[in-house]
Order: sequence, then structure tokens, then C-alpha cells
Amino acid sequence: MCGIAGYVGKTQQAGPLILDSLAKMEYRGYDSTGMAVMEGGEIRVAKAPGRLSVLENMTRGGSTLPGTCGIGHTRWATHGVPSAVNAHPHTNADNTVAIVMNGIIENYIPLKEQLIKHGYTFESETDTEVLCKLIDYYYEMGERKHAVRAIRKVMHRVEGSYAMAVIFANRPDTIYCARKDCPLIVGNANGASYCASDVTALLKYTRDVYYLDNQAVTRMTPDGIEFFNYDGEPLDMKPTTVEWDAQAAEKGGYEHFMLKEIYEQPQTVRETLSPRLKDGNVVIEELGMDDDELRSVKKIYIVACGSAYHVGMTGKYVIEGIARIPVEVDLASEFRYRDPILEEDSLLILVSQSGETADTLAALRLAKERGVRTLGIVNVVGSSVAREADNVMYTWAGPEIAVATTKAYSCQLIAIYLLAMRFGIARGKVSAQQQAEMVQALKSLPDQIGILLEAHDTIQRFANRYVAAKDIFFIGRGEDYAISMEGSLKLKEISYIHSEAYAAGELKHGTISLIEEGTLVAAVSTQVDLYEKIISNMEQVKSRGAFVLAITNVGNTEIEKVADYIIHIPVTYKYFANSLAIIPLQLFSYYIAVARGCDVDKPRNLAKSVTVE
Ligand code: AGP
Repeated sequence: MCGIAGYVGKTQQAGPLILDSLAKMEYRGYDSTGMAVMEGGEIRVAKAPGRLSVLENMTRGGSTLPGTCGIGHTRWATHGVPSAVNAHPHTNADNTVAIVMNGIIENYIPLKEQLIKHGYTFESETDTEVLCKLIDYYYEMGERKHAVRAIRKVMHRVEGSYAMAVIFANRPDTIYCARKDCPLIVGNANGASYCASDVTALLKYTRDVYYLDNQAVTRMTPDGIEFFNYDGEPLDMKPTTVEWDAQAAEKGGYEHFMLKEIYEQPQTVRETLSPRLKDGNVVIEELGMDDDELRSVKKIYIVACGSAYHVGMTGKYVIEGIARIPVEVDLASEFRYRDPILEEDSLLILVSQSGETADTLAALRLAKERGVRTLGIVNVVGSSVAREADNVMYTWAGPEIAVATTKAYSCQLIAIYLLAMRFGIARGKVSAQQQAEMVQALKSLPDQIGILLEAHDTIQRFANRYVAAKDIFFIGRGEDYAISMEGSLKLKEISYIHSEAYAAGELKHGTISLIEEGTLVAAVSTQVDLYEKIISNMEQVKSRGAFVLAITNVGNTEIEKVADYIIHIPVTYKYFANSLAIIPLQLFSYYIAVARGCDVDKPRNLAKSVTVE
């Protein structure tokens, strides 16, 4: 996730302070950095791909950019690969406006086209450069006199979620900030004003900060900060005193990055979804395939590892169910050595959060050698899988710090649903009515995830009962089997409790012999047409002494006759239920691991990206 930092004061040089603030936000993950400092009506910019140390060396600790007013940025690439051209700050043509931004401008392409008609040119691939030049356009329209008005006009035009800091060469000692849905915090102390994406960067200067209201605009000078609402009326904001220490603040006040990322899922699912839902239609421009090409695909392969493989398992049910295309799912470590038979006119999808998993990358290269079209579903922009696949669909979950994936996994599911719908619509398998229902269901997922997160106390209490468990089983049928696999892996990798996931109908073929008195069996039951089947499987394990936890849809009353403990999830379109069932399973594993004193964010023996075989 990107990091914004800004300083405007009377005595101290901005460069070193901005570097220091950006360093406090390095944990957020980034792939390029930059800053712009203003002095004597001139804005000087330095930016580069790579670590913050590159910028520090380039600017000799910030000293080559003189001035007491400046903005800085660490960029997590979304639009455009990591490069100096794409790094922030972005400026207008004559370097009199500079901007840094977090978030995603969803309608940047039409805005860019309109600006080009007005004579603007563009150097980068980013949505931020469009934002900068749109501000310039309105600032020029106001004869360079009305900065807040120019920013507000832009806010009325852009769609998406963002936080921005802007400086204007003809407005010395002033920084302007604005936000919509992305956090931005400002503060004033000791004759200077500060802004940052994250309170960690401000704690050194002040603990009395302002969490900018959504859609608010600020004007910051060394003497103070003014706030305006979306309509330009003055806002009377009260400061918040931050009690956190810096380390806690990095995690946004959460105890672990994993919990923070679990709670980021409503936002990251929304950010992965909304740019691809246009007026009720699924639009996946980055797929690079028109309807004819979509119709020509005879088979889909999904190849991945770990949790990404479990997304592939879900993908089989969802894509076959919605688009009626045969799907073969493979572990990348197996695929690459089994001399696979790959049909012509097929599409091979690689799912990978890091985009650097060695086995997945090898599978990609094998597919390309065989002439099969490849698509990456990737979270890290510009990663190897993203660069080498024929096309890439980013998940936009932001950097995932915890080794155990949660928000990236959820965004990968969203990508799969959108792909299934896009194929199904192109192939005439999805009616307009069904599409409308599915789109509505997708749009409801972020709020439904939020509702499930509110039940964290209940889940924590239940989880604490199983701190000393030796074996926990997860069972499900259809998509619920895929989510059981993910629930089991989450538990194993962070709590070190042995667990197995089973297709519920398979348990009786051997593994049921492991069920003893009190063994916990989590049965996932979201597929209405399989309710009865899973209930009989629950009865089978109960009769052997199991304690049955059921995760099922609100309204499934039959299951109450069998389950010992029920966690209800909101009803959604049958193919999207994995996105909801996974939430209690993530929280269940997290709380057990915490109760067992495990290193939740960095579990033993594991790496965030397995770049070796
Ligand atoms: C998931 O919690 C694990 N960290 C692991 O299974 C992971 O999903 C797997 O290593 C694949 O990683 P990738 O998505 O970066 O390719």
C-alpha cells in the first residue's frame, strides 16, 4: 500500500524529514519512492524505483532538494510497473504542480482522453499523473488563484478511492491534502504542519492528529491547518490524541498484521471489484480477450500453490458452474514435472499473490513453451508471473505482510468470479437477469464480510476452547470442500495444530477412523442443494464422538438438529459463498494461534514467497 508524507515549516529542511517519515512507513511495502520540495517558487523532484535508500543516496539525505515545504511517497504499483517515470510525485508540464497519491482512480482513462483533447501529454502509465493534470486543468481555469477549488472540482470528477497531497509553485509554504476512502492524517506542532498516510510517520512530531474526514480538503501552512468539506465549506475538526506506540501504529492498532489484513478485506475486495463493474457489466480490459476469443477457449487450466491452489479449486466449481468450460486444477509443483497434456485453444491461469513462487513460475514457462495462452492473477505489480504471463489481472489487495494470506486470497476469489462471469456472458451462459443478480451479489460482498468480522468476539471465545486440540478436521462438498482446504491450511500454518480437509463424501473411505470423542469437525455447508448430504456426513462423524462446528447460511434450520455449534454467514449467490465462509475460518485460526502464543505473522518454517523449489 502506498505511503504519503508531507512537511511544511519555517526552519527545518523538508527533505530529510520526509525521508524519515517515509522510512516509518516502509513496512507497508513499496517498489519505488520519490519526493518534491519547493523553494523560491521552484519545485524540485527526485524519484526512483527500488528501496528508500536509493532516494536517500540520490538526494544525499534530502539535501539536494532545498526548501521547507515538500511531499514524499512510497509507491505500491497498481497502474504501471515500478519505474522512475511511474513513481510519485507526478507534476504538470511546467513543474508548477506536484502530487503524491494513494488509492485507485477508476475512471482515469476517460479523464486522460479528455485531457489529451485539451492538449495535455502524458509520460507515465499511472492514474496519478492524470489526477495531477486534472488539478492543473482546473487550477489554470481559476487563473492559478484557487487551489482548494481546483482540488474540489477534481474530487467531483474522479471515481475511486484516494488520498492525495499537492503543492503549487505559486503557493509557497502550503500543502493541500484531500481524501476519499483512503486514510490521510495531518497534524500541526512546533510551527510546522505534517501529513501522512499512517500515524506512525507523525508520532515523532505530535500525538495530536486529525484523521481527515472522508472527502475533506485541507490547506496546511506552518501556522496551522484549515479544513473544508466536499462543498468547500469550512470544517471544524477536532484532533485525536494517539496513545499507540510506533510499532502498534504500523499495524493500525491491530496486534498482528494478519488481523489487520483480515479486517482490510472489505476494502480490498471492493477495490478489486469496483473498477471491473461498469454500469452493471463485468469489464476486464486487462484480460486482452474479446468475446470471440473468450468463446474460442475450449478448456481452462488453473495452476498454483498453497492457498492460491485452493482458489483454483474454487475456480473449478465457479467457472464450470457459470461459464460451462471444463477446468483442470493443478498444484504447480506437480504440473511442472508431469509432462501435462495441454489442449489447444485453452487458457492457463496462474494464481499467485507474490508472483514469484518458483513452482508457479516454472509452470507458467512450461505452458508458454507449449504455446498455451497464459493469464496471471497476481497481487504484486511487475512481479515475474505478472511480467511473463501473456496477460495479468491484478488483485489490488495492497502489500500482504503476514505470511498467511487472507486479503490477497479473498481478492483472488473475486478475480475468479469476475472471470467466470466474463466467460459465461460472452458464451451466452449467463442471462441478463442472472448477470444482474450476480453483480448485485458481488457488490454486497464487502459489507457482508464486514458483518462477519463484527462477530470476532464470538469466534474468539469458541476458538479458545481448542487451544490444546491435536487434530481438527474440515469437511465440505463442492465449493465448500475448496474452502475447507483453505480453512485447514490457515489453521495448520499459524497454530501448528494438525488438520485435514476432506471432501465430506470421502471421509467414510478411511479417514473417519481418526474421529474420536471430542474431535472437532468443522463442516462447511453453503451449497443449498447439498445441505442434506453434508448433514448426513455430520451425523456420521457425530456418531463417532465428534463435536461438529457448522458454518452455514442464515436460514439453514435443518442443520441445527445435528451441529453442536453454528456460525451463520449471510446468503449470497451460491458461487460466491467461499468469500464469506472463509472469514470465520480465518478468525478461528488466528485466535487459536494467538492463544497458543504462536508467531502469527511469521510462522515457523514458512516464507511469504517460496522462491525456491
Ligand atoms: C498461504 O497462507 C501460504 N502463505 C502459502 O500457501 C501461499 O499461498 C503459497 O506459497 C503461494 O504463494 P503465492 O500466492 O505467492 O504464489
